[in-house]
Amino acid sequence: MNRHYKTPKRIYGSDLNDSDLLLNYVEDKETLDNILASFGIYSYKKISKYPVHYSATCKKAIVGTKDGLYFLKEKAKYSDDDRKVDFCAKYQDYLSNRLRQVPTLLKTGDGNPYVRYGNRVYILSSYISGSCFMGKERQLESAAYHLAKIHNLSFGFIKAVNSVGKATNKINSVASSRRFIQLADNLTSTSKSKIKQLAISNLDTHLRSMEDRPQPGVSTAIHGDYIPSNLLFSPASGEVVGIFDFDNCGIGYIEKDVAESLMSFCSGLNYKGSSSNLAAPISRKIDNAQALSFLSSYCRNAEFVTLDKNFIDRVIDEIMVQWPGIMCLGIVRGDFGYLDILSALDFISNTETLRSSLKKNLLQGINKVGKNVRL
Ligand SMILES: Nc1ncnc2c1ncn2[C@@H]1O[C@H](COP(=O)(O)OP(=O)(O)O)[C@@H](O)[C@H]1O
Ligand SMILES: [Mg+2]
Repeated sequence: MNRHYKTPKRIYGSDLNDSDLLLNYVEDKETLDNILASFGIYSYKKISKYPVHYSATCKKAIVGTKDGLYFLKEKAKYSDDDRKVDFCAKYQDYLSNRLRQVPTLLKTGDGNPYVRYGNRVYILSSYISGSCFMGKERQLESAAYHLAKIHNLSFGFIKAVNSVGKATNKINSVASSRRFIQLADNLTSTSKSKIKQLAISNLDTHLRSMEDRPQPGVSTAIHGDYIPSNLLFSPASGEVVGIFDFDNCGIGYIEKDVAESLMSFCSGLNYKGSSSNLAAPISRKIDNAQALSFLSSYCRNAEFVTLDKNFIDRVIDEIMVQWPGIMCLGIVRGDFGYLDILSALDFISNTETLRSSLKKNLLQGINKVGKNVRL
């Protein structure tokens, strides 16, 4: 436990260092005034004790009003076309009405859950404070429990959306990994070194071997980025208090969310502090005990999934499909180098071992206590 979470406890609102929040900051007063006015906020205090940071991704600001704190976010370019913004806002809206951990989206005077200003899209949500994930067992179980809750609710959401038109915005893990491999391969800043070619060709060959593997999973709306930096926890109880960042949500297989969270909550990815930036050394395996804990908690609470070997196979296949893409995302963002990837390629064989271990331990565990498929 705690292998990859050495960061000291941080409470958002008192110490935001290392957080994605600091990547950038909506600092231009006129912009801020105009955006907030669209949401009916005319008097506010920008929480200015947070230092200003800059990055290529999206800006945020915390604003204080007489009614409390709000979190303003400029949507990243990749997620700000009308169809995506609309889908994500509807999904977050639906969930926030049923799950208090999902922040409420404020509406503009016209009733829209977002505003376009200049050429960017902004959303304003209620502010939730909590502490970061530190690999504690209770946090892990609570994260899994809440993922199951989200998925349980998603079926109702899809029904509601489909009744007024077909829900779109599909998520495709193979295509996404392929895109990141391509991006890393095309990087002009990296040389045509042997190490680069070897790393890329290994990842590419691995992805090709997986392309037809994943069986169709359980399809519904999914979060799409259920990783530690998008959740906050109660410092006292370890329960999830906030679930954020619906920029990557869409229609997909629940196995995609489960796979991503198994990697990211169970020491399969190494992050820089409490951010979503990856760090070297690249983790070589998912922690077996943590994975067991996460999956048990998820399956106990997911109302639609039965834990059988096909479910485990689909989740492990998903991990195998996502991993090459995540590695290349790390390269593209400059989080680590090709050599780091090469030395961590045994992640793939270790994940195969995890597959058999999960089947043995989870499924035998169930049989022993006389229960059938559901834990
Ligand atoms: N409504 C909110 N209340 C409190 N903290 C939030 C809120 N929304 C996001 N955060 C925090 O800010 C961080 C960055 O926001 P996020 O939406 O995840 O942006 P990014 O797309 O850059 O990852 C999150 O990791 C979360 O910890
Ligand atoms: Mg985020």
